[in-house]
Order: sequence, then C-alpha cells, then structure tokens
Amino acid sequence: MRMLSARNICKRFGDAEVLRDISLEVDQGQVVAVIGPSGSGKSTLLRCINQFETIDSGEITVCGKKMVSFDERLQRTVYADKDTLRKIRLDLGMVFQNYNLFPHFSVLRNITEAPVSVLGKPRREAEAEAKVLLSKMGLSDKAEQYPYQLSGGQQQRVSIARAMALSPKILFFDEPTSALDPELTGAILRVIRALAQEHMTMVIVTHEMAFARDVADHIVFMDEGVVVESGTPEEVFFRPKEERTQRFLQRYFEDRAG
Ligand SMILES: Nc1ncnc2c1ncn2[C@@H]1O[C@H](COP(=O)(O)OP(=O)(O)O)[C@@H](O)[C@H]1O
Ligand SMILES: [Mg+2]
Repeated sequence: MRMLSARNICKRFGDAEVLRDISLEVDQGQVVAVIGPSGSGKSTLLRCINQFETIDSGEITVCGKKMVSFDERLQRTVYADKDTLRKIRLDLGMVFQNYNLFPHFSVLRNITEAPVSVLGKPRREAEAEAKVLLSKMGLSDKAEQYPYQLSGGQQQRVSIARAMALSPKILFFDEPTSALDPELTGAILRVIRALAQEHMTMVIVTHEMAFARDVADHIVFMDEGVVVESGTPEEVFFRPKEERTQRFLQRYFEDRAG
C-alpha cells in the first residue's frame, strides 16, 4: 500500500528555488533514506510533507488522503480543507535533529501531552502507553526526569517515544543523530533499526551512510533541490549512475578516512 506520494513538488523561498520538481513515493513498511549535501533541500522536503511549510506546486497524498493537489477547474495547486489536513497531520510523526522537547515538562509528560490534549486519551492510559515506549527506548528509569537532566542521546530517544505515542503511520527523522557524539549515536540507530524490524514506515534524512545502507530499502540522493538519483542501497552506494552521486559519496568516504 502506498503511504506517501509526493509528486513534482516545487518550493521557493523568495528567489531561491529550494525544491525543484521533487517526487517521493513511500510504501507501507518501507524505510527510505534521504541523503545529500547540506543545503540540498532535505529538511525543506520533510517540512513541506509535515505541513510546517506550504508548497508552491505539486501534489501530496498521505495514506490515500489528498493533502495538496492540482485543481483542474481553478488551474492551481490547492490544499485540502482544515479537517483533512488535521487528520493527515495525525498520520505523520517527526523527530528533529535537536529533539524539541518541552523543557518544563517531565519526560513522561512530554510523551503523554499530545495523546491527552490532541487525541483526548485518558491520562492514565496515555501514561501506561508512555511507560511501554520508554522501556522500549531503554529509558524506564527516566520518566520523572526533566530534559535538561538527560544526555542528548537520551533526549532524542524521548522524542522518538513522543512521536510514537501518537501512533503515526509514517515517521520522519531529520538527521536524528547529527547533534550527537558518535558514542551516543549507536543507541538511536538501534532504536530506528528496531522500528524498521517492526515494519514502521519511515523516511530518514541522515548523514550516516553505513546506517542508511543497512536499514533502508530505498535511497534517495538529493542535490540542489532535485532528486539526482534513487534506488536500492546496492544501486546508489555501489553502482551510482550519476556523476554527482559518485562525487558526493567519494567526498563522504574520503572525509571519513580522514
Ligand atoms: N525558512 C527559510 N527561508 C529561506 N530560505 C530557507 C528557509 N529554509 C531553508 N532555506 C534555504 O533552503 C535551502 C535548503 O535548505 P534545507 O532544506 O535546510 O537543506 P538541507 O536540509 O538539505 O541541509 C538552503 O539554501 C536554505 O538556506
Ligand atoms: Mg537539514
């Protein structure tokens, strides 16, 4: 089943064309990794799909619901009504580079806040579910702590639990490990890998090439607002067709080798 279909997305900020005819399709249970140099439009793409930005043209369909489409009669791109947009937002979860936890809420409250206030779940039920999620994240003993008392890696796992608490149909990660020291990265990657094994549908923007290669079914390489190349990890990492992909990977592995 097709979970996400983004077609011919164009987005500009002033004169800058940041997304230029981008398309992205994601099926149920698929893990798609988006790679590419800084400034290529990866975050903007995720932000457009998650309704933090509006697109200028193109079409986006989430779990069969049309979020934006081209209206033949009006001859322009139109967004769905408020209610549909709200329902679509509930299908989508996002984990940010900098966690974005509420600093004045405990870990438990960070996770239960949206289920209680947005979904109207009874608090006790939300708390019981949050505790299950925390234990999956290896954070059972942190429920009553505040974000400042946790390491970056722990905060990021709380933010994954927070996203999961709304049972999203698709989970998006925007460079979930890039604010972390290498030794804290491993735990996040393990959590994402476990979610992949449970067939969670995910779109992951990452600089961790080895991880992308291992965990993703499909790789999308973006540069300067376009999808330059996409395919299986085998195809993109070992037999890249495009020169820009080859250069990007070469630079990445050279930097790694020091
Ligand atoms: N809110 C904004 N206003 C103006 N320019 C923006 C905004 N957000 C991103 N950009 C620009 O869009 C381009 C793509 O940015 P981004 O999507 O963050 O790339 P990436 O995530 O691949 O590093 C960059 O040139 C960036 O400066
Ligand atoms: Mg980014």
